[in-house]
Amino acid sequence: MKAAKAKALSSGYFCLPMAHRQGGSLNTVLVVDDKKSMVDVLKRSFAGAGYAVLTAHSVKDALDRLRSAAELDMVVTDLKLPDGDGLQILAAAKERSPLMPVVVMTAHGTIENAVRAVKQGAYDFIAKPFDPDHLLLLVARALSESGSRRENIVLKKEFSRYLRMPELIGESPHWQSVVESARKVAPLKTTVLILGESGTGKELIARAVHFFSPRAEQPFVAVNCAAIPKDLIENELFGHEKGAFTGATEIKQGRFELADKGTIFLDEIGDMDLSLQAKLLRVLQESEFERVGGARTLHVAVRIVAASNKDLHKAVAEGSFREDLFYRLNVFPLVIPPLRERRADILPLARHFVQVHCREMNRPEMAIDDDALRALEAYAWKGNVRELKNVLERAVITAEGVRIERRHVALSAPEAPPLPTAEGSLLAVGDAASRAAEIALIEQVLRETGGNKSRAAEKLQVSYKTLLTKIKDYGLENLA
Ligand SMILES: Nc1ncnc2c1ncn2[C@@H]1O[C@H](COP(=O)(O)OP(=O)(O)OP(=O)(O)O)[C@@H](O)[C@H]1O
Ligand SMILES: [Mg+2]
Repeated sequence: MKAAKAKALSSGYFCLPMAHRQGGSLNTVLVVDDKKSMVDVLKRSFAGAGYAVLTAHSVKDALDRLRSAAELDMVVTDLKLPDGDGLQILAAAKERSPLMPVVVMTAHGTIENAVRAVKQGAYDFIAKPFDPDHLLLLVARALSESGSRRENIVLKKEFSRYLRMPELIGESPHWQSVVESARKVAPLKTTVLILGESGTGKELIARAVHFFSPRAEQPFVAVNCAAIPKDLIENELFGHEKGAFTGATEIKQGRFELADKGTIFLDEIGDMDLSLQAKLLRVLQESEFERVGGARTLHVAVRIVAASNKDLHKAVAEGSFREDLFYRLNVFPLVIPPLRERRADILPLARHFVQVHCREMNRPEMAIDDDALRALEAYAWKGNVRELKNVLERAVITAEGVRIERRHVALSAPEAPPLPTAEGSLLAVGDAASRAAEIALIEQVLRETGGNKSRAAEKLQVSYKTLLTKIKDYGLENLA
């Protein structure tokens, strides 16, 4: 043990790397002792190991340093000082930063005091007289541990973003039944396949399945199969062994390993390469795989939730998606209808997003005017819930007071009708053109009136009955 310590010290391995924080700046240590000779020795020893050193000779000095130092990573303090107790310094250090390690130095025979200090949050104590190298080791260890605790906290924060149950807003029977099915399947291990257009809430439902399940405290690991380049995805999903390829200097755990005991969300599964689909099938069937470049078979207990905005039946028919994989995934399909087919959700979602954006932007609560609500309800929402969310974010930004008016709700103009083809008789061309023009105008007026047919008929200067017939003929019922 002693030999190992000596070797570590002589190689500088322990001291020098720890003297630098991530990013390269020096770690700063505050050394407190009333004996000048002691402070000098320690100052030299720390500086020699690459630390920046601050010194103090009394409690008062030390408290000043703790208040004023721009950078401070750790404290080494004597317990008995002329004007007070090292415990005061410990308390002030913890107040400055709860994770700051404090090592107390104690004279022989006052170990009980040192133990008391450790109970009050000191990292450790060292009994005088000591070898300065021993203290260096202790400091290096303390800094390295507090660094990883900090990283852990950052990770936990990141994680806790996902630890919150997502808010599932919607009153339409369609949406309610999706949520209800998600709740029913969640406690089981059953694979879930979520299908729906882009922006309909597939990821939200995937998270809900995880959070309604007994795995809620375990990881939820999302993989966007479309976003990761084809030649990297195997590495991402299954990890690699050290030396698997040039540059693989360390073992890397893949997403399946990281998701062990939790849920893996394979998003945009329809975009996965065929060769990888075969490997995925094996994990689904056997719950086992090997890291890239590895011979060892790993087993995981992972719940699979996959999603796609593609028509997977069609992809199977076209040969771009393996049929066997499709059946493995399609155990419990959840289909989320587009927003335009569940208009009852538009207003609750709109109000919810206004609230969310106001909160995020630190603005007082806002209300949405009736005509703005009507316009939102009548709009075709091709981008689904995500488009609605974005429109309301812009509205919250542009509205100055506490009301969102119609003019703040920027809906893109309805698409221009297709130009009538110039084939056939002159009469037919005329008919097609007038039909297209009528469709465009009726759509526009229905949007403006928020779907109010009698007001639309008035504006268009036709009878209510004529408008109804045209709406039916042109298939515009979803706007009315
Ligand atoms: N019912 C809902 N209640 C609350 N927020 C919702 C709801 N549906 C969707 N959202 C929000 O809308 C946005 C889009 O949802 P999500 O990312 O889940 O959609 P998606 O189907 O995965 O989209 P894509 O296919 O583009 O990946 C997210 O910010 C999500 O939180
Ligand atoms: Mg998504």
